[in-house]
Amino acid sequence: MRLAHLSLTHFRNYRRLELDFAGRLLLQGQNAQGKTNLLEAIFFLATSRSVHAQAEREIVDWQAEAEPIPYCRVAGAAQIAGRQLEIEIILTPRADGVNFVKQIKINGVARRAMDLVGQLRAVLFLPEDIRLIDGGPGERRRYLDIALCQIDPAYCRALSSFQQVVTQRNSLLKTLREQEVNAGSTAVAAQLAFWDERMVQHGAVVIARRHNFIVELERHAVVRHTELSGGREALSLLYLPSFNPGQLPDAEFELVRDGLQSPATSQPLTAAGVADTYMRKLAARRAREIVAGNTLYGPHRDDLRLLANGRDLRLFGSRGQQRSAALALKLAELQAMTQATGDAPLLLLDDVMSELDEQRRSLLLGALAGVEQTIVTTTDLDDFTPLFRTQAQIFSVAAGAVATLDNGTPAP
Ligand SMILES: Nc1ncnc2c1ncn2[C@@H]1O[C@H](COP(=O)(O)OP(=O)(O)O)[C@@H](O)[C@H]1O
Ligand SMILES: [Mg+2]
Repeated sequence: MRLAHLSLTHFRNYRRLELDFAGRLLLQGQNAQGKTNLLEAIFFLATSRSVHAQAEREIVDWQAEAEPIPYCRVAGAAQIAGRQLEIEIILTPRADGVNFVKQIKINGVARRAMDLVGQLRAVLFLPEDIRLIDGGPGERRRYLDIALCQIDPAYCRALSSFQQVVTQRNSLLKTLREQEVNAGSTAVAAQLAFWDERMVQHGAVVIARRHNFIVELERHAVVRHTELSGGREALSLLYLPSFNPGQLPDAEFELVRDGLQSPATSQPLTAAGVADTYMRKLAARRAREIVAGNTLYGPHRDDLRLLANGRDLRLFGSRGQQRSAALALKLAELQAMTQATGDAPLLLLDDVMSELDEQRRSLLLGALAGVEQTIVTTTDLDDFTPLFRTQAQIFSVAAGAVATLDNGTPAP
């Protein structure tokens, strides 16, 4: 797939931008000029999410406030398997003046965010991706969710339904806690049954899919990581759900979860199988959840552990090891996404070359061969080989404006 046109209005430091491009794109500019913002805009078109989890209002140009109707618009035209796809996202302020309404159109027709995700797919590399390794579980869940939602609409629907149900279920659990009910009573079981059933139905789809996806990611990541470490390290990925979904005996599951043992093999999970163990877990832990006034089991409590030679990289990895693992994970995502959909996603690389040594650079550039379109940013064109530069359209980015550069010299 290929993006051919990008149009921005009041998106971060872009007042107005109309940009046409063909294939590979290289964006050069000093710091704080708008390179990351441009990639963020493309990622926003693909996922309708901002790169960082914070409020949407952050992406609206500060100066938009001075407009009669402050709004932010991101639009693009893409070629996907010979089809033309037009996407438009508009953010307008709500009456409260703080939050924004998001309107999405695909080929001119209003759609939900869920219908957008997966149409124009993108994998984004950022210098701060190392947080996938050294950050909290929330970062890793977010990573899995964004990747999986782009591949699998059923996953995206299940995730969204699950999140809605958990909110409802939590407020019921809080009410039950305040009422100091007897958790063992049939009346309480009956009250929870409705929400339990829905939560398990959607949650089991999410858990099974994450598990199976991680097995697949691992297959690709191991190969990349072996190359990055010169064969010295074996990477493994371990899915850590908040309860034993039934793949291992309980005692073994606990040893694996606590990092005391590695699982023998990873068999695929089915949603039906997970639903079974999930339901039993809830029944056995009802009292505990009521005391907590909160849902304690489910995909919102999952984690993903990355190990090198059996050691947890979050706890024991050096910066270099963590960086390699993050890169291996991203390249694995690119491959898994290409395989699952039969079409390579857009590859967005934000200022990543400067962070990488020679070997990691060439591995990354090697991965570009299978990608139809790559959009890269850099402060220094010399980070790229002359060959790479002749194969790219080069633009300069300065103060929210983009201009053509011809092999590194501004066009007349
Ligand atoms: N909502 C916003 N409105 C206007 N300017 C913004 C907004 N958010 C960020 N900026 C500006 O964008 C610039 C950073 O752009 P960025 O794309 O991160 O730069 P870089 O070229 O270094 O990647 C900063 O000057 C910042 O002040
Ligand atoms: Mg930047």
